[in-house]
Amino acid sequence: MHFDHNTNSGIFITFEGGDGSGKSTQVKLLYKYLLENNYPVIMTREPGGTQISEQLRTILLQGNVNKMNAITEALIFLAARSDNWEKLIKPALDSNKIVICDRFQDSTIVYQGICNNININLLNNICNTITNNMLPNRTYLINIDPVIGLKRSMRQDNVDIRFEHKSTEYHKRIQEAYLRIANNNDRYLIIDGNLSIEEINNIIIKDVWKIMGKAISKVTN
Ligand code: ADP
Ligand code: TYD
Repeated sequence: MHFDHNTNSGIFITFEGGDGSGKSTQVKLLYKYLLENNYPVIMTREPGGTQISEQLRTILLQGNVNKMNAITEALIFLAARSDNWEKLIKPALDSNKIVICDRFQDSTIVYQGICNNININLLNNICNTITNNMLPNRTYLINIDPVIGLKRSMRQDNVDIRFEHKSTEYHKRIQEAYLRIANNNDRYLIIDGNLSIEEINNIIIKDVWKIMGKAISKVTN
């Protein structure tokens, strides 16, 4: 299977949404589905993915909520992205694989840019420098009331909860920011996070078929 893309490479799919919206559940289900159907696919997450980025993840997501300032934090998120991009995502796309990533650039724009007031142009410039301006082919935004999401997130054996101690208003702002970005932009599919795990998985699989169909017809035409 070979996919075309704006740079002649694989297909890049990201998942976004508030904490506990169901992203990692859906990332794993989609990964399993594609693997079982013999598609070349990898899954990764941000912050994380590579050894260095996973170490940075621990620094970012564990410990006291006020342990570093917003700019320090933003630079570590970006450093983690850079390593994940260079060592994992870019090589996989270059060898025509499907890459599924749990959070990506939109998380930085929403959390660091819109919520922590760090200059969005600056964040975009650094992100675009890391990725050479490459954006995901598709982004699934799982939309859920943050109160429900946080309840779900706290339920599991979760140690990466530094940000989950922030206020409900903070998480509401995240949800609104995501919706503002995703509305009227073809790259996103907004999915109702209140649906069952299986219903969401089915919506995503149907949509991924469409995306793959487009990629294949670009190659054959
Ligand atoms: P995220 O990666 O967005 O933080 P997770 O996929 O880890 O979210 O899900 C958080 C919790 O909610 C998990 O216990 C998961 O089993 C549960 N969950 C995920 N999706 C749904 C859903 N659609 N309905 C009910 N519970 C869900
Ligand atoms: P994670 O446990 O992966 O997310 P979730 O709680 O949804 O399962 O935690 C990642 C946290 O890091 C989440 O609160 C969002 C935040 N984050 C940023 O602030 N900026 C970023 O660029 C990324 C990738 C994540």
